[in-house]
Amino acid sequence: MKKQIKNKVSWVGKVDWELRKFHGNEYSTHKGSTYNSYLIQEEKTVLIDTVWSPFAEEFVENLAQEIDLDNIDYIVANHGENDHSGALPALMKHIPDTPIYCTANAVKSLKGQYHQDWDFRVVKTGDTLDIGNGKELVFVEMMMLHWPDSMATYLTQDNVLFSNDAFGQHLATEKLYNDLVDQCDLDEEAIKYYANILTPFSPILRKKLDEVLSLNLEIDLIATSHGVIWRDNPMQIVEKYSQWANDYQENQITIIYDTMWNGTKILAEKIAEGIGLADQEVVVKVFNLSKSDENDIITEVFKSKTVLVGSPTISNSILHNVAGFIHLMKELKFKNKKAAAFGCYGWSGESVKVLNDLMEDAGFETIDNGFKNHWNPDVDAQESAIKFGEKIAKT
Ligand code: FEO
Repeated sequence: MKKQIKNKVSWVGKVDWELRKFHGNEYSTHKGSTYNSYLIQEEKTVLIDTVWSPFAEEFVENLAQEIDLDNIDYIVANHGENDHSGALPALMKHIPDTPIYCTANAVKSLKGQYHQDWDFRVVKTGDTLDIGNGKELVFVEMMMLHWPDSMATYLTQDNVLFSNDAFGQHLATEKLYNDLVDQCDLDEEAIKYYANILTPFSPILRKKLDEVLSLNLEIDLIATSHGVIWRDNPMQIVEKYSQWANDYQENQITIIYDTMWNGTKILAEKIAEGIGLADQEVVVKVFNLSKSDENDIITEVFKSKTVLVGSPTISNSILHNVAGFIHLMKELKFKNKKAAAFGCYGWSGESVKVLNDLMEDAGFETIDNGFKNHWNPDVDAQESAIKFGEKIAKT
């Protein structure tokens, strides 16, 4: 169903209430998502992005109820990833000759996925497209935000920035705008999206934000491709991105572990107790990896100044899901974060060294040799774990 967002601009996307995993199984979406597609009906009719392929037929049927598909003059593909381009094959069966405006990399992406020779029109930053009634689309390449093909499109006079993935959130809602949804949900999903998807590209993002701000575009709406449209103080999310892109951290220490027979779990909790005793201000959070959502923990890592990782020793090494989680942190290229390791062992006891090496390889600065405990922690060992926590808090 078409919903007007400003003058002759409408939302024609899909709300996906039941989505719980995105990017295969890589990203948890507890609150669903939306795939936002937009229709501009000036002298020229323009469709900006489509929806994920499972909803392709539904999308085309709905669109055909709103307009004669033959009246679409231009399609803009801000990004080739399937959640935005997935309905193109179904749509292009009806209008095969309609030009598709996108970056050179998006042509590679769209051809690679759909193997079609559509009428691609390659655009670069600053290129414009006249859509009549004195309005233009201005294209801005957003390379690596978050794919090499990403771009944003700005609609003059209405001052709408169609930002695609940037500034988005995986949040299913019937409310179109940022001021109409639960603000805690919105904040949580916006930072989770940044932490889990955009963190590796923070250095690029810093430059791109400067470049976009230097264009002095008047922006009334930031129409993202996931979640809500920013209309109430739309620059608030740009300011947040500026903070997040600058090696963001809060006064938080996060303890992440897995455990076999609860020894390492006891250490985690005692270390947390020690941190709390030594520093009344610092936020301490503890997560058992086996019982927590990895993407939610990544958001906590993103907010942390120090991350403690624990695993017992198994087969001269560490538990595999701890190794997998450290690999995920490495992929995300966190900067300016400290780390320390802990773990119980019965025989050979390599886990703490393995954890230290992996955390350094993942870009963290280890601030201690770590805390090893032989067998299950007794009262003295628990006291030592508290002292270790106090030492970490003071480092
Ligand atoms: Fe990069 Fe929402 O897709």
